[in-house]
Amino acid sequence: MEVRKIHDKKFKIFIPNAEIRTVITGMADKINRDLEGRDVIFMGILNGAFMFAAELIKQIPPNCQITFLKLASYAGTSSTGTVKRLIGINEDIHDKTVVILEDIVDTGITLENIIKQLKGYEPGEIRVATLLHKPEAYLKDITLDYVGIEIPNDFVVGFGLDYEGFGRNLADIYRVVEP
Ligand code: IMP
Ligand code: MG
Repeated sequence: MEVRKIHDKKFKIFIPNAEIRTVITGMADKINRDLEGRDVIFMGILNGAFMFAAELIKQIPPNCQITFLKLASYAGTSSTGTVKRLIGINEDIHDKTVVILEDIVDTGITLENIIKQLKGYEPGEIRVATLLHKPEAYLKDITLDYVGIEIPNDFVVGFGLDYEGFGRNLADIYRVVEP
């Protein structure tokens, strides 16, 4: 079993790249069937979703839009520091089908915040596609329309997901090894 050190923790391989790609192909097929003929805009949430988005949208027919959004902390906030503003929405999403692309939905707090802000732009429909999901940690009741792989409540890195900024470029997904 391949174990590697990322930053200051050890990780072992959990989901190989070939399996990730197979799962994403399945997600793309379903999205293509469900959303055929619609005016769709895919919104990848940076940084984590960049690899998932790149792999997925290669398998979506060309007649769609793709953009990336980022959650930025409010400058000078005095409150909890958990309130984040969604930046990068330039396209007109009014009446369009928005598909949010996330690397992972853990508690769902981030996703809820994103959806709340997107609703202000009055899209026709918002759907959620996430590569990974930790059902044991999920606190919300937002429907996750397309879930790639459900994983246990362990910390993972790779394929866009980071540990302290490291490990995003790994082609496979690794799981932390408890010391
Ligand atoms: P939330 O708890 O659903 O709000 O998760 C928010 C964010 O935490 C995700 O978008 C990831 O950036 C990060 N995250 C959650 N679990 C993991 C993990 O296992 N590895 C790396 N990042 C994670
Ligand atoms: Mg993320």
